Amino acid sequence: MRIVMGAVGHRFDSGGWLFRGVDLAFDAGRSYALTGPSGSGKSTLLGIIAGWIAPVEGSVDRGDVARSARVFQNPHGTPRRSARDHVALPLLARGASPREADEQADGWLERFGLGALGGRRFRDLSGGEAQRLMLARAAATSPDLLLVDEPTAQLDPSAADGVNLALNSLRLEHTIVVVATHDDRTRDACTDHVDLRAFAPEAVA
Ligand SMILES: Nc1ncnc2c1ncn2[C@@H]1O[C@H](COP(=O)(O)OP(=O)(O)O)[C@@H](O)[C@H]1O
Ligand SMILES: [Mg+2]
Repeated sequence: MRIVMGAVGHRFDSGGWLFRGVDLAFDAGRSYALTGPSGSGKSTLLGIIAGWIAPVEGSVDRGDVARSARVFQNPHGTPRRSARDHVALPLLARGASPREADEQADGWLERFGLGALGGRRFRDLSGGEAQRLMLARAAATSPDLLLVDEPTAQLDPSAADGVNLALNSLRLEHTIVVVATHDDRTRDACTDHVDLRAFAPEAVA
């Protein structure tokens, strides 16, 4: 699984170039931290990597990548459903039996430091726990591509540490993981670092 970008540049109608000349390859089994100041185009580049946004210039070869999953800054869940259900439901939808889905869900919860919280309702999880649950759920569906946008932005430092630890578990053999962040420790939890400032037009000029 590999995504290759060649000379990618993007601007929105109203603004100047966010970035140009982006030549990057993203491989399964690795996690890529995408850093840069607020407004530098991290979320936009995530959208281009995923194919939701067509870049103004350059090429994106998405190869065999078909299924992508996304985790946002704010965790979204069903308040009264258990943590376990949040992970098990997509597994059920993909054909697992209820028992298999629960067993697999518990395995993923364990891996993300939520082993003791399977029965807890979503609304009773802390912000950090809820964010780790979102990562566990996304990972459980074995996407080809997993995009994570500012996962620690809304968390206090200790909750953020837990999420960063969880990101260390996000090295998935068959999944390309890309994380937009301006948290140094999130960056350090990834295997690779892409600094968008290197592609800012003023750096090129
Ligand atoms: N759909 C859009 N239309 C117009 N401008 C946009 C759109 N999406 C983002 N932008 C602008 O592009 C710039 C980069 O946004 P974004 O990719 O969200 O940056 P980051 O995630 O690094 O904070 C910002 O100035 C933002 O306002
Ligand atoms: Mg953003």
